[in-house]
This record gives sequence, structure tokens and C-alpha cells, in this order.
Amino acid sequence: MADHDLRFIEEQFCSWGDTVHYNQPIRQFSRCDQFYLFDTAGNRYLDFQMVYSAANFGYQNGHFEQALTDQLRTLPQLASEYVTREKILLSQAIAQTAIAAWSTKGRVHFNVGGSQAIDDSLKLVAVNRGSRRVFAFEGSYHGRTIGASAITSSFRYRSRFGAFGERAHFIPFPYCFRCPYGKQRSDCELYCAKQVRRLFESEYQSIVDQRDNCSEFVAFYVEPVQGTGGYIVPPFDYFRELKKVLDEFNILLAVDEIQMGFFRTGRFWAIEHFGVAPDILVFGKSLTNGLNPLSGMWAREELIAPERFPPGSTHSTFGANPLGVRLGCATFDWLAGHDYATTVPSLGAYLVEGLKDVQARHPEIGDVNGLGLAVRVEMCYADKYTPNRDLAHRVKEAAMDTPVDTDVGPLRLILDIGGYHKNVFTLSPSLDINRGVIDCFLCIFEKVLAETKRKTV
Ligand SMILES: Cc1ncc(COP(=O)(O)O)c(C=O)c1O
Repeated sequence: MADHDLRFIEEQFCSWGDTVHYNQPIRQFSRCDQFYLFDTAGNRYLDFQMVYSAANFGYQNGHFEQALTDQLRTLPQLASEYVTREKILLSQAIAQTAIAAWSTKGRVHFNVGGSQAIDDSLKLVAVNRGSRRVFAFEGSYHGRTIGASAITSSFRYRSRFGAFGERAHFIPFPYCFRCPYGKQRSDCELYCAKQVRRLFESEYQSIVDQRDNCSEFVAFYVEPVQGTGGYIVPPFDYFRELKKVLDEFNILLAVDEIQMGFFRTGRFWAIEHFGVAPDILVFGKSLTNGLNPLSGMWAREELIAPERFPPGSTHSTFGANPLGVRLGCATFDWLAGHDYATTVPSLGAYLVEGLKDVQARHPEIGDVNGLGLAVRVEMCYADKYTPNRDLAHRVKEAAMDTPVDTDVGPLRLILDIGGYHKNVFTLSPSLDINRGVIDCFLCIFEKVLAETKRKTV
């Protein structure tokens, strides 16, 4: 069937409620390999988005294919009241990352999809603190189920779906390039963290009852590096200051590692860069290299022990499904054979350096920054500050439509856009790229940017 016939069918029979129609026309792909996607006409695209950081270890990776095939041939499906060896071993492997990083014993609970795991973590908060009223950050994205939308900052995701009684209380994120308080990092002395503390000064700031030091908001959901918010890296001492306040008022730290976990930032968990230990940690995406929608949460023993979170507290038919947990084990095997703690920071620094070089020739790039291979390129007007959403979107489209000649043949680019003003390229290439691939990316990116600007004048 020809592509245009399929599109005609899509228009009539597919719901438009997902994000496919963000693209006009819609974009269809038929094949992938390593860091590349291929469309139905055979055009090759270098993917610097990798399923929103769910396919960190590359497409058609034989190691994961083998694990999947083995599981398919033995026990591919199983009712979730029963257990496989891999579920147990994967739980142990994840729990051991917390023992290694924070010397903290905990347990793991699986679900399907990041948003569902966020919902589970909200249940866990509720059973431990008697409430689901939580803090989250401006610019946060925790997913689009009803529960996760309530703690996701964008009102667009809530506005048409009724009242969200348990909507989070949103706190400004330390976004230094656009400091919400108009400060400069060089002399701000973490004014933003002080503003959080200020909320607890008296009951009239609306948060705390000082008679028993009880906060109305019982957990704080954080993305250590904001993902959809535009790959914003906070100052390295920010979370330590925040955690002091949380500890004083018995507020749980719930860390969303769904996008930044599994070495995206050069550490197993991104929060490891910031010197604080989570009470609850939520993960998904790259746990299975994007091959199965397995997600989950880890929590400190005290919070998730069976007497707190007894059988049946939450359940999904496909939670801990055998294919997913087998792939999760394959991820741990893969990680054991790779030194991402060394290679990812080095490749990330090389990419940032290359982008800064491009920035020197293009004032429309207001900010380049990153942590490991989570790299942001913030597009602005020529004043290097006013957000330029239009330019970012035209570059994204042009990158997909314009083949650029490279050493490996004509290539197009897949870019993702995030940010509070939808003007930030959030680059999340495969962790297995090399400097040659980065050079190739930089060459295409600059050519497309220059050509897009030329067409605008
Ligand atoms: C930080 C973060 N949390 C939660 C989610 C939601 O995960 P899912 O799309 O698997 O429901 C995402 C997805 O992009 C995310 O980046």
C-alpha cells in the first residue's frame, strides 16, 4: 500500500490525541540501525533523540535482540501474579545500585511506562505520609496519566481534563540561563534554594504548620536534570541545600530518573552527581533499551516494606512482564561490559565544545550546556537571549527534510525540542556514538542552521 493511502487511513481511523500530529505532515519510519532511522523512501537520518533517551544503547543491538529472542522462545508471557527468575534478579540489580551509591537498602516495584510508575510512586507517598500533596518544579515533566499530569508543570496537559485537586505546588527550578529571580550564578549564593527555605518561615507562607513542623506537601518530585524542560543542569550544590529543608520537615525526595537514568548523564543515576540520596526513585525508558515499556520504582525499605506496601497495592497485567525483565537484565549485562562513566562525559564534553564552536558563528544559539550526553542548545534571537521558538522548529523540520552530504553519504537529522519556550534542542544521542559521529552531527547541524537562517532573511 502506498504511503499516501496509509496516511488517508491514518487520518480517519487513528486518534489524533497522541503527539503524531505535532508533525505536519506526519512522519513515518520503517527501519533502524545503530544511530540511524530510515524512512519509507529509504532516506537515512542520524538520530540525536533516540526515542526520547529510551534507546541509549543503539538500534538493532544484537545483545538485546538475543535476550529478546531467547525469552520469546521460552516464556514470553506470564500472569503477573507469578514470577520469573529475571524479575527477581533485575530487582536485585537495581536495588544494588542504591546500595552502591547511597548505602541504602530498598525494594523495586515494576510497572509499564514511566507515567504509570510515577503514579505508583504517588501511591507510595500516600501510604507513607497520608497525602498525595507534593512539590514539583516549574518546567517539570513526569508524564501524562492523570496522576503524573497533576505533578507536571505544563497547564496545557491539564486544562481540558477537569480539576486536579492534588495538583503539585510548583517551585522555580534553578535554570541559571534564565534565572527566575534575575540573578547571576557568580554571586547569587543559591538565592533560589533560599527562596524554598523562606516558604517554611511561618505558617503564613501557606506550607507549614509550625506547631508540629508539619508540611502540607509531603514529597518533592525532582528531575535531577530537567528533561522535557530543556535539559537544564542545576548548580551542583542546589539539591544539597534543598534536601536540608526537606529533611527538616520530613518531606520525601522522589527522584524521577525516567529520562536521565542509565548513564545518560555519565552516572548510573543522574542524582548521583548532586550529593543527595533519594527516598524514592522512578525509572523507565532505557531500562530495556526502549524494546519493552517496562518501568518501575525503587524506594527505601522503610517506605516500601511489605507491611507498608502489601500485596495488591498496585498491579498491571503487563508489569514485570518476562520480555521486559529479561531485557532489563540484558541492560545490566551490557553496562558491565562498558565504561560509560568514562566515555559518556568525554563524548559529552566533545559535543558541547563543538557546539560552542558553532555558537561562536551563530549568535542565535543563546546557550549550550550539558551533563554527559544530555546536551542543550537553546535557540534565541540575535540578542542571544530572547527565545526563538520559530527558528528552533524550522531547523528541526529542515534537518529532517534536507539531506546533507557527509563521509557516510547523505544524512538527515532527527532532533527533539523541549524547553519552557519550546526553543531548546535536547540532544540525547546513543551512548555508543563516537567522535566521528559527533563531527558528522555538527557539520549537518551547522549547515541546516545556516541555510534556515539564510531563507529567513
Ligand atoms: C522525566 C520523565 N518522567 C516521566 C516521563 C513519562 O514517561 P512515559 O512517557 O514512559 O510515560 C518522561 C517521558 O518523557 C520523562 O522524561
